[in-house]
Amino acid sequence: MTQSHVSTVADPTADTETDPGADPAVRFPEGFVWGASTASFQIEGSTTADGRGPSIWDTFSATPGKVLNGDTGDPAVDHYRRYAEDVEIMRDMGIGAYRFSVAWPRILPEGGGAVNRAGLDFYDRLLDNLLEAGITPWPTLYHWDLPQALEDKGGWPERDTAFRFAEYAEVLRDRFGDRVRDWTTLNEPWCAAFLGYADGVHAPGRRDPAAALAAAHHLLLGHGLATAVLREGGSDRRVGLTLNQTTVRPYTTAPADVAAARRADAVRNRVFTGPLFQGRYPADLLDDLAAITDFGFVHDGDLELVSAPLDHLGVNYYTPEWVSATTEGVDPARIESGGDTGAFVGCDDVVFVSQGLPRTGIGWEIDATGLYEVLVRLAAECPGVDMYVHENGAAYEDEVGPDDRVHDPDRVSYIDAHLRIVHEALKAGVPMRGYFVWSLLDNFEWAWGYSQRFGVVHVDYETQRRRVKDSGRWYADVVRKGGLPG
Ligand code: FCB
Repeated sequence: MTQSHVSTVADPTADTETDPGADPAVRFPEGFVWGASTASFQIEGSTTADGRGPSIWDTFSATPGKVLNGDTGDPAVDHYRRYAEDVEIMRDMGIGAYRFSVAWPRILPEGGGAVNRAGLDFYDRLLDNLLEAGITPWPTLYHWDLPQALEDKGGWPERDTAFRFAEYAEVLRDRFGDRVRDWTTLNEPWCAAFLGYADGVHAPGRRDPAAALAAAHHLLLGHGLATAVLREGGSDRRVGLTLNQTTVRPYTTAPADVAAARRADAVRNRVFTGPLFQGRYPADLLDDLAAITDFGFVHDGDLELVSAPLDHLGVNYYTPEWVSATTEGVDPARIESGGDTGAFVGCDDVVFVSQGLPRTGIGWEIDATGLYEVLVRLAAECPGVDMYVHENGAAYEDEVGPDDRVHDPDRVSYIDAHLRIVHEALKAGVPMRGYFVWSLLDNFEWAWGYSQRFGVVHVDYETQRRRVKDSGRWYADVVRKGGLPG
């Protein structure tokens, strides 16, 4: 194990102005989970090592024009070889839980069938290191790196992919079920289905709205099948999934804007929460999309599987949406160009507008109140389910200063504001049980390549040297105190 980071994190609060012993005014409950998140393709690198098969993100990023600057998942931040150092950084920061994802193509290079033992061994080593460091592992089974072999057979729009996912879940359960209690099946199925198969900005880069809806259903079916598999033979296992729900607000109270918001909300949020929490697709969604699909991909019994009760729900939140039915009367400067609108299937006529708020480095508007709305709404939709923020954070153009430090006050303010909102949600009765910052490390930000740094730990992409940013030191301080100053 390399110790190169140790000097940078030995005393994460050395330069903070707060008294390390002070009782925080905004205190989180005892047992609140303080975590950090990453994802396999974004950090691991070593994409051809030890029998790993190709994923759709390998293919996509190798296709000219798909990822900024032609960046690929190699070497990413070399976590496959530097995982022990990264665990040590988390231990030094006092982080209690690590949310990472398992690369399906490391385990089943062909998507199903032959198991690659070396792939399992890597996660074995990671798990053992985490447990030794007193950090609770929170693996996610699918954070978008579908084995290319399955995409070649049709990908998520094909029903069989859901069954291959359950097969993969069984392999992980058998190998890691003794050490993992908290399992997450999917990360952000909305992105996987709609950015991947409708908008085409994510792998596999298809632009077929009907296929995207079939993909969404098969992701949910895969979640349902895998949930049953993961629960088998382990009564204390807790299974959930992670959704990136957001609030979709009408630009004005005009009925047409309210109707536009309802439609966008259906295809952005309720397409998942309907099947998961009510066991059915929303009637208005079925009507809205009737010209695109008849939902014939929903078979008898699917929705019972999909709606099996969750033990926990992860929420990823970065920014809200505002929509208008028309460009008329909208300040032209507020009309969003580009964006994700192709992903909003059936909403081609809906205009996405900005609120004119400050933005993070990636261009996403900052509005923590959106997180409050999302949490309160979800708590009402799935009462009694433990809730976690599984991702929240901000990209900024960080630089290593002459003092060899990364001063990132904007990231601190972003996380601080959102943590205060989580606390507000708790006070309102939402069963918030934890918060995971996105991300532990700077990493490969999908179509943005390495241009966006989300880490609380800086990575020098030339040398792979890690430096804990000021935000990481600040977060370590919050974790140690269990809260924030008033
Ligand atoms: C989420 C993804 C995560 C990362 C953040 C910024 O949508 O789950 O991998 O890209 O956004």
